[in-house]
Amino acid sequence: MTGIAGKVIAITGASSGIGEATARHLAERGAVVVLGARRFDRLEMAVASIASQGGKALCLVTDVRRREDVARLVEFAMDRYGKLDVLINNAGIAPISRLDDLRVDDWEDMIDVNVKGVLYGIAAALPVFRRQGFGHFVNTLSTAGIKIVPTMAVYAGSKNAVRAISEGLRQEAGPSLRVTTISPGYVDTELPSSMTDSSLRDQGELNMKAMAIPASAIAEAIAFAIGQPDNVDVGEIVVRPTAQA
Ligand SMILES: NC(=O)c1ccc[n+]([C@@H]2O[C@H](COP(=O)([O-])OP(=O)(O)OC[C@H]3O[C@@H](n4cnc5c(N)ncnc54)[C@H](OP(=O)(O)O)[C@@H]3O)[C@@H](O)[C@H]2O)c1
Repeated sequence: MTGIAGKVIAITGASSGIGEATARHLAERGAVVVLGARRFDRLEMAVASIASQGGKALCLVTDVRRREDVARLVEFAMDRYGKLDVLINNAGIAPISRLDDLRVDDWEDMIDVNVKGVLYGIAAALPVFRRQGFGHFVNTLSTAGIKIVPTMAVYAGSKNAVRAISEGLRQEAGPSLRVTTISPGYVDTELPSSMTDSSLRDQGELNMKAMAIPASAIAEAIAFAIGQPDNVDVGEIVVRPTAQA
């Protein structure tokens, strides 16, 4: 199936920011969207708002640190709509810090959400895509993985782990599956709220105020990749503010 209309698209981290904006954007273009995240109230609000605009959306509480939750999100989409065209592995956190600070719990959280969460998405959807003979993974990376700067080592490492996994997946996927990575720069979202170091959080919020682009810019780029013909695999997309060094 070419285009966006009629596709069933599951999105993790869809309760705010890039995931929510992408769900709205794709629903406006006729996709059926299945939203997953931990905050049920925010998911419900997004689903109600999409429905009020004539879109089709459902949601399921999903913690990507739990393999069974991610599997349930995929099963939920399959039960309701009989297929899954796209899984957007978007959930992520950024409790950044200098390595000297030894905030090992934060490192583990980033690995659990940003890396293992994506692997659980692959584990859930890949067998479904194989059975169907079609399917598209979209994994959210970051420009933090392209230009590595102090305080971002572990966050960048988590995103670059997914970059490597995505390229391996693409090579193993064969001719009928598609794999896209998208690396946003500064985007105006709630991501600073996941920063546990208050001075870095304040700085992150200042950076966002100074230069961040709206989440809709990332949603448009994801929609571009999804909307291509089946035999066109948009591999890597980088979208950053012009003002970002
Ligand atoms: N904003 C930026 O400047 C920027 C730049 C580059 C890359 N990114 C990446 O973009 C992605 C989306 O982030 P965002 O900027 O849109 O920030 P956001 O508004 O904070 O959204 C993050 C989403 O991830 C979800 N999430 C966090 N932990 C989760 C978990 N354990 N299980 C399921 N969902 C979880 C959050 O929902 P709940 O809290 O409800 O679970 C939320 O929906 C992330 O992967 C982030 O690394 C963002």
